[in-house]
Amino acid sequence: MIQALEALRTVRLNERGDGVVILDQTRLPTEETYLTLTTAEEIWEAIYKLRVRGAPAIGIAAAYGALVCAREIKTEDKAAFASRFGEIVDYLSTARPTAVNLFAALGRMRRVLRSHPEATVEEWKEALYREAVAIREEDAAACRRIGERCLELLRPGMGILTHCNAGHLAVSEYGTALAPIYLGQERGYGFRVFADETRPLLQGARLTAYELLRAGVDVTLICDNMASAVMRAGWVQAVLVGCDRVAANGDVANKIGTSGLAVLARHYGIPFYVLGPTSTIDPACPDGASIVIEERPSEEVTELWYAHRMAPEGVKTYNPAFDVTPHELVTAIITEKGLFYENNS
Ligand code: MRU
Repeated sequence: MIQALEALRTVRLNERGDGVVILDQTRLPTEETYLTLTTAEEIWEAIYKLRVRGAPAIGIAAAYGALVCAREIKTEDKAAFASRFGEIVDYLSTARPTAVNLFAALGRMRRVLRSHPEATVEEWKEALYREAVAIREEDAAACRRIGERCLELLRPGMGILTHCNAGHLAVSEYGTALAPIYLGQERGYGFRVFADETRPLLQGARLTAYELLRAGVDVTLICDNMASAVMRAGWVQAVLVGCDRVAANGDVANKIGTSGLAVLARHYGIPFYVLGPTSTIDPACPDGASIVIEERPSEEVTELWYAHRMAPEGVKTYNPAFDVTPHELVTAIITEKGLFYENNS
C-alpha cells in the first residue's frame, strides 16, 4: 500500500468485530473523523449519505455491515436466523441503486447460508466473517492488478485527467482509476494529474485532490467545465475513470459528468480508459439503458457546500448521481482479469 495513505482506512471491522469503522468522507478534507457503525440503520445511512462511497467501498461496508448485524441476531434457530438475516440484507440493498458492487457483495453474504446447509447458526456466523474478509481482500488484490495492467498502457510524464474519486478512499486500498497513478508514483513516472472537482458533491475536489496531494502526486484541481480547455491545451494524454456498473455490452455507469468527458476525449483523440474490478460488471444488465440511475436530493445542487444558498428558492433541479457512457466512446475497460472491453475504432 502507498505509505502516505496507510493511515487512511476507508472501511474496516473494529477489533471486537461488532462495528464497521468508516472514515466519514463527508467531513474530508478538513476533518479525518472515523465512525463506528453498529446497526443496519447506521450502515444504511452512511452509505446513502456517502459517508462511505465509491462502488467497491460500498460493497465492503455492506458486507461488514451484514456480518455485524448477523452477529447481533440472538437465536440458535436456523430458520429464524435466516429469515432475519435475509431482511437485513434486503434492507441494506436499498441504500443506493446504481453501484452493482453493493448487490454483488450482499449477494455473496446471502449465499453463505445456502452453501453451508448443514451448519449451525454459530458456524454460519463464522462463515459470514470469512466471506466479508474475502470480499475486502479480493478487492485489494484486484485494485493492485488493475493498476499494474493500466500502467502498461501509460508512459512516464503523461497528463492524466480523472473524474470523481476512484481512489484509495473509494475501495479497500489503492483505488481503481488512481491505482496506476499510485504505482506510477512509486516508480517515478512523474504523472501530472488533473482532477475534476465533480459537482455537485465535489468528490474530486474534496477526496481525489486530498488523497493525491497526500501521496505526493502532482495534481491540479479544475472545475468540471474546464476539461475541454485543458484537453485542447494538450495537457491530457489519457482519461482514467472508475465505474459503478458495467453492462454486458460495455456501457458504463459512473459519476455524472463521465459521459461528457468521454465525448470530449473522443473529440480530442485522447484515450478514455474505464477501470474497475470484475465485481462491477453486471452480466444481467444488457446495456446502459437498463441501469438504474440514482437521483439525489435537490439541496445537493442548490446549497450543500455553499456558505449561502446559491440558487433561487423554488427552482427546479435535476440531480442524477451517475450517467451512462456508451461503449463506443470507451477505449478500454480494464479489470483485474484483463480487458473486459476494447474499442479499436
Ligand atoms: O457517488 P459516489 O461518490 O459513490 O460515486 C463514485 C463514483 O462514481 C466512482 O467513480 C465509482 O464508484 C468507482 S470507485 C472505484
